[in-house]
Amino acid sequence: MAFMKKYLLPILGFFLAYYYYSAKEEFRPEMLQGKKVIVTGASKGIGREIAYHLAKMGAHLVVTARTKESLQQVVSRCLELGAASAHYVAGTMEDLAFTEQFVAKAGKLMGGLDMIILNHITQTYLGFFQNDIQHVRKIMEVNFLSYVALSVAALPMLKQSNGSIVVVSSLAGKMAQPFIAPYSASKFALDGFFSSIRTEYFAAKVNVSITLCILGLINTDTAITAVSGKFDLKASPKEDCALEIIKGGALRQEEVYFDHSPWTSVLLGNPGRKIQESLNFRKINVDSILKSKGLP
Ligand SMILES: NC(=O)c1ccc[n+]([C@@H]2O[C@H](COP(=O)([O-])OP(=O)(O)OC[C@H]3O[C@@H](n4cnc5c(N)ncnc54)[C@H](OP(=O)(O)O)[C@@H]3O)[C@@H](O)[C@H]2O)c1
Ligand SMILES: *[C@@H]1O[C@H](CO)[C@@H](O)[C@H](O)[C@H]1NC(C)=O
Ligand SMILES: *[C@@H]1O[C@H](CO)[C@@H](O)[C@H](O)[C@H]1NC(C)=O
Repeated sequence: MAFMKKYLLPILGFFLAYYYYSAKEEFRPEMLQGKKVIVTGASKGIGREIAYHLAKMGAHLVVTARTKESLQQVVSRCLELGAASAHYVAGTMEDLAFTEQFVAKAGKLMGGLDMIILNHITQTYLGFFQNDIQHVRKIMEVNFLSYVALSVAALPMLKQSNGSIVVVSSLAGKMAQPFIAPYSASKFALDGFFSSIRTEYFAAKVNVSITLCILGLINTDTAITAVSGKFDLKASPKEDCALEIIKGGALRQEEVYFDHSPWTSVLLGNPGRKIQESLNFRKINVDSILKSKGLP
């Protein structure tokens, strides 16, 4: 009986809650109409496709990356496609001061913020890890630390709008991935940080959703050039991938899996982890933490 109460009921509750929440709502493009959205890493690849989809849906956009000329082209195309407004701010996410200035500027340009889509990454080399510690530092700074800084800067506006943080990750952020160890580490870090923060927001009743997107190989120029002749994997179209990322964010889903194989989400979804997390959360005295420390 004690066993039932301690384990079976929470597990049953977890699955009921999971099915209830996952089948709640259907996506409609109008959900993004007039919404104020930031997209990082939007000068090419998946980020650019995300911007184009959002433009067609009538969103306000601020895009960023380092290359001004490409961003200019993305912005004019977004306006042609029907964006409510579109601006760019160029800069490097290696610079933490830029992350803060960028979010402030974007907030001013749009008059608020509903969604921030964190998507940029620094260049990754495919091969054996050869003790390049400086490379690990750079990857952690651009792929992880800047995501934390951007979300910190965006949170006050997102709280006001009941907004969303969308974090673009990879299969390599859920499973070990030899030959891109530093990249894999940075993507695991995103899961550790943002999945923990999601539970903190829940505990503190902060209504900002966090969506982690776990992508398989996508046919962007960068990825195809990097893996060609080395990894024998099937690439999925970047346009479809971009749309699934937006859908997941708009529906406030916790995780989005996008891969050519339907088994990926089943195998990497890890229900064991989710059960363990919910059992663990029940043992935390949230009220005393809320009282002792400032709220998020
Ligand atoms: N493609 C795939 O197969 C695949 C698979 C799994 C996950 N993902 C994830 O999907 C996301 C997008 O990947 P992608 O293939 O579309 O990449 P991509 O085409 O190489 O685009 C990367 C973007 O990041 C920007 N960027 C690079 N360094 C930057 C820096 N220091 N500061 C600011 N911006 C910087 C680039 O623009 P500039 O060079 O102009 O700065 C570009 O806009 C990434 O998070 C990636 O990990 C991709
Ligand atoms: C945000 O959600 C709360 C309920 O959690 C609601 O009272 C409030 O009106 C919402 N604000 C906006 C801007 O949607
Ligand atoms: C959180 O905000 C979303 C979007 O505005 C809203 O649909 C939802 O009802 C809110 N949830 C809570 C618990 O207030």
